[in-house]
Amino acid sequence: MSTQSLHGRRVLVLGGAFQALTQGPLEGAHLEACGLERLLGVSQADADLILIDADAWGEPQLAAGIQALTLASAPPPVLLVGTRLPTSVVRNLLRLERSDVLDAPYSAQNIEAAIGGLMALRTPATIAVPVTGGHVARCWAVTGAVGGSGATTLAIEIANQLCARQDKLKSVCLIDLNLADGSAAAYLGASPSMRLGDLTAAADRLDVAMLQAFVSPVNDKLDLLAAARDPTAFDAAPREAILRMLEVACESYDWVILDMPRHRRAWSLEALCGCDEMLVVSELTVPALLAARALSDEIERDLGSGEKPKIVLNRLAARMFGPAPSMAEAEKCLQRKAEAGISSDWEAAAASVNLGGPIATHRPKSKIVKDVQTLVDRLAAQPARAATKAA
Ligand SMILES: Nc1ncnc2c1ncn2[C@@H]1O[C@H](COP(=O)(O)OP(=O)(O)OP(=O)(O)O)[C@@H](O)[C@H]1O
Ligand SMILES: [Mg+2]
Repeated sequence: MSTQSLHGRRVLVLGGAFQALTQGPLEGAHLEACGLERLLGVSQADADLILIDADAWGEPQLAAGIQALTLASAPPPVLLVGTRLPTSVVRNLLRLERSDVLDAPYSAQNIEAAIGGLMALRTPATIAVPVTGGHVARCWAVTGAVGGSGATTLAIEIANQLCARQDKLKSVCLIDLNLADGSAAAYLGASPSMRLGDLTAAADRLDVAMLQAFVSPVNDKLDLLAAARDPTAFDAAPREAILRMLEVACESYDWVILDMPRHRRAWSLEALCGCDEMLVVSELTVPALLAARALSDEIERDLGSGEKPKIVLNRLAARMFGPAPSMAEAEKCLQRKAEAGISSDWEAAAASVNLGGPIATHRPKSKIVKDVQTLVDRLAAQPARAATKAA
């Protein structure tokens, strides 16, 4: 876990010991300086991490603060540092599911490593490996390296290919996590029904039955979870509500495909953490390939689990029309093999979005359909991550 992983995360900072770290481990984080009283009833909705300088308070106050944390139902991870760390306080702190202690003297690297360890631990809200009634939902995430690279198009085609392999009704769910302006509903000709205000209000009680109120059925196998266009949507939907929705979706379906925003959100890493596969879609331009490499490296580094996104090259065209890189040149730029290449077929892609529905429905002979099928065949043949873990 690197400093980058706290980028955009909300961190409660108690005491002065961390001031020097804003240029280091805490760079890019949203810091809220506060006192011990802030710990009363604190939850993951308030912060992603709590840093406490034990030297800033006397033992009784500190003990009361830590006690408050142990009473919270799902407190954020906590790092306590100091030169005087009372045993009673430390013992209470270690009762928390995610906590660590650093005794002075410590370096910025020690802090960074401790924070990395804490953030890598799964939260109870993490979608993790979803297992329901003996069946394991498989979850794949698709994201674009740059805008317009084809992430939504491929997420839809992948979801549709998976439907074709299922006998069961309502077995696949496509979730458009581009909450502000996702296009999956428009591409599918469906009405978005995920009302984020209602979802947030219901998050604590959300279950498999209630989730259906937010779903738009696309066909008898495929459901869509997508919100109507709303420029404030990312601020309106808290991390817990999104993670809970993902968790319940993974309990409800056999396959869940996430159309992920490429800009990182407070819930992005946790969502990716629960996925079996992460696909970064790139087009064949040098800037897009460089962005794909950087995005994939960032995700791998910040997940810290050894899981790597796979890169899919989209809109491969015959070279006769211009200086686009070949697949081999693209892989050189990526410094790795691409997982798959998807042919370019503007007519088929445009016809499908105009008619509303997958390319496989409107242009079943398109090379896009065949290429996506090959990709899905290969990915689906891999064991689910839950199975790998259990082995
Ligand atoms: N293989 C392809 N061949 C031709 N056109 C394609 C292909 N894949 C996607 N397109 C077209 O490229 C455009 C962008 O695709 P899409 O909306 O799926 O990209 P995106 O990465 O989801 O974009 P955004 O960044 O806006 O979310 C659309 O017009 C789509 O029809
Ligand atoms: Mg999109």
